[in-house]
Amino acid sequence: MTMRVSAVDIIQKKKSKEKITVITAYDYPFAKIVEESGIEVILVGDSLSMVVQGNDNTLPVTMDEMIYHVKMVTRATKKAMVIGDMPYMSYQVSVEQCLTNAGRYLKEAGANAIKLEGGNEVVDLVKALVKAEIPVMAHIGLTPQAIHRMGGYKVQGKTEESANKLFDDARRLEDAGAFCIVLEAIPSDLAHKITSSLEIPTIGIGAGPHCDGQVLVLHDVIGLFDRFVPRFVKTYTNIKEPIISALKQYKKEVEEGSFPSEEHSF
Ligand code: KIV
Repeated sequence: MTMRVSAVDIIQKKKSKEKITVITAYDYPFAKIVEESGIEVILVGDSLSMVVQGNDNTLPVTMDEMIYHVKMVTRATKKAMVIGDMPYMSYQVSVEQCLTNAGRYLKEAGANAIKLEGGNEVVDLVKALVKAEIPVMAHIGLTPQAIHRMGGYKVQGKTEESANKLFDDARRLEDAGAFCIVLEAIPSDLAHKITSSLEIPTIGIGAGPHCDGQVLVLHDVIGLFDRFVPRFVKTYTNIKEPIISALKQYKKEVEEGSFPSEEHSF
């Protein structure tokens, strides 16, 4: 039996000063490609609400829809750690609701950890999850489920007070038992300070170069989401163009009668 990369392996990477690369994936073919690339941690993010479902923000995606996607990703992979992201209102109501939904990721969908957004407000949930043997990736800074409170996707921790709160949140989440913390859209210096003060790894997205690892949304990396591109995104390739030109060629060949040819016929 092959064991997937685990929370223990991720913490060990920080100890041995190896950087951690995380990417999102939401379905079977892309999860297979990610595993083939050697990236060891796949986050089935609630970003799928925007990049796959076409919603304006991450709030609409449901727990059942997330389970459907996590199942595809675990089916496609053997080694990668698969983290199921807790969607909006799947954990905020009560500890019981949180445990029931997080448990579904491990029990029904084969994930080996979960992620949830929030600082001090979710510390009791993190403690309960850890007690129930569910590894937790925490997420602070720009937390997209709080878009209405934040008034948009804005860099967080710019004032002394908010930076102190984020620093404090990170310490409390570590004490509660989270195995790593995503730091999203915060100043590099603050991310550096948090990273140096924690035993567990920080995974940055728009948090500068000093985090222990990085995470990006797959569809941003490969040019499949262009509705808006935040400054922290690096588009490494654009697969939309070759796909469009292949489809144009197919259409042309069907219209002119050159496809299917003898070669593709029985
Ligand atoms: O939903 C997501 O993909 C995320 C990452 C961007 C961290 O939360």
